[in-house]
Amino acid sequence: MEQFRIQGGRKLRGEVRISGAKNAALPAMAAALLTREPVHLKNIPHVRDIVTMAKLLAHMRCRVESPDIPPSAFTIQAETVSHAEAPYELVKTMRASVLTLGPLLARFGRARVSLPGGCAIGARPIDLHIQALEALGGEISVDHGYVQARAERLRGARVRFPRITVTGTENILTAAALAEGETILENAALEPEIGDLAELLVKMGAKIEGAGTPTIWIEGVKELHGTEHTIIPDRIEAGTFLVAGAMAGGEITLTHCAPHHLGALIAKLRECGVDIRCDAADNSILRVRAPKKLLAADVITQEYPGFATDMQAQFMALATQAEGVSHIREAIFENRMLHAVELLRMGANIHIEGNSAVVTGPTPLTGAPVTASDLRASASLVLAALVANNTTTIDRVYHIDRGYERIEEKLRGLGASIERVSPSGS
Ligand code: EPU
Repeated sequence: MEQFRIQGGRKLRGEVRISGAKNAALPAMAAALLTREPVHLKNIPHVRDIVTMAKLLAHMRCRVESPDIPPSAFTIQAETVSHAEAPYELVKTMRASVLTLGPLLARFGRARVSLPGGCAIGARPIDLHIQALEALGGEISVDHGYVQARAERLRGARVRFPRITVTGTENILTAAALAEGETILENAALEPEIGDLAELLVKMGAKIEGAGTPTIWIEGVKELHGTEHTIIPDRIEAGTFLVAGAMAGGEITLTHCAPHHLGALIAKLRECGVDIRCDAADNSILRVRAPKKLLAADVITQEYPGFATDMQAQFMALATQAEGVSHIREAIFENRMLHAVELLRMGANIHIEGNSAVVTGPTPLTGAPVTASDLRASASLVLAALVANNTTTIDRVYHIDRGYERIEEKLRGLGASIERVSPSGS
């Protein structure tokens, strides 16, 4: 299994290009199942989850092609789909496979998708996806670990999510786009990835209004067509580099990002004393400069536009270097504090109680062998290692490869000492 070996203490300086958003690209790829015509998607990040989604679509006999290696664009054509099925082998490595459920059921009237099961950050059920698809007329059963869904044609309905769900909102958007009649989706997720998916669907001929607000209106159409779409920038990758700059800059310039998707994080980092500026001439450029002294701040994770759960682990790494006491509470997932235990091994002063952490800083971190438990936890360990004394070895970096494109190359470009190594015997 590959590892990262990071020698801490280098100041980061320079420019980094932000990739397309994994969590926008995944539903966009699944949405290509809604039409027999080709869908061209650009600004696709080259990360492992995207490769898994491409494999899943190919398994369903879709044509998945890319003009370049590694792929930064895909043409996906689901002219016919012979297996309306997402098998366990693929779903277990990527929960977002569940995003194929809505499109398959809406277009082919049947779907068989493995239940994702739990993951490192929590149980993560899909009961809300299932209830909402049932409200649209889907007949759904769960058998032998698979969700089996059938419908002659889905019918529009008024659906209210009892709790906000991002991929749940995406599944219902895609399903309702081909349903008969009107769907009104209440308490929908507001994440920018929802707006991006709606924009793609509208280009494909869907009738959707209100995406990005809590109530989305969808008038189903009989057929959708092919189109071309550019995926929005990855706000979590951008956020991770902002934290890197705040902890280990120098000054870093982020290009090709969407600063308006980063409001809560930028406000919090400014509270910590970090200097972040938008470029006056180009609104896709952000500059971050580390302060002489970082200050502690409290964080509670929330749905967008609140502070993203996907940035909680990285913020905790920053809090170890900030003066004072930071209270961090994870309010979206039940078990997203595993990185804290690894940060403790590097010398951090963190007291964990359930879903809350009290971080007292600043503490000098020392390099240690640590293990990544999930995607964002691994990013927080990389950030901690960048400021630690000596060498940190991070095990199981396949987690980080799921969602960060060439992170070690990007960090090396900024002056970090980071290499990917394969320990002998693995
Ligand atoms: N939930 C239920 N039932 C459901 C669906 C969700 O109880 O049917 C609960 C979840 O267990 C969780 C909360 O509702 O406690 C919110 O979960 P949500 O459904 O919004 O999460 P998701 O759609 O599975 C997406 C991102 C995650 C991100 C969350 C929250 C994708 C592919 N994944 O997951 O991204 O953390 O929204 O913003 O979009 C990551 O990129 O590292 C990542 C985990």
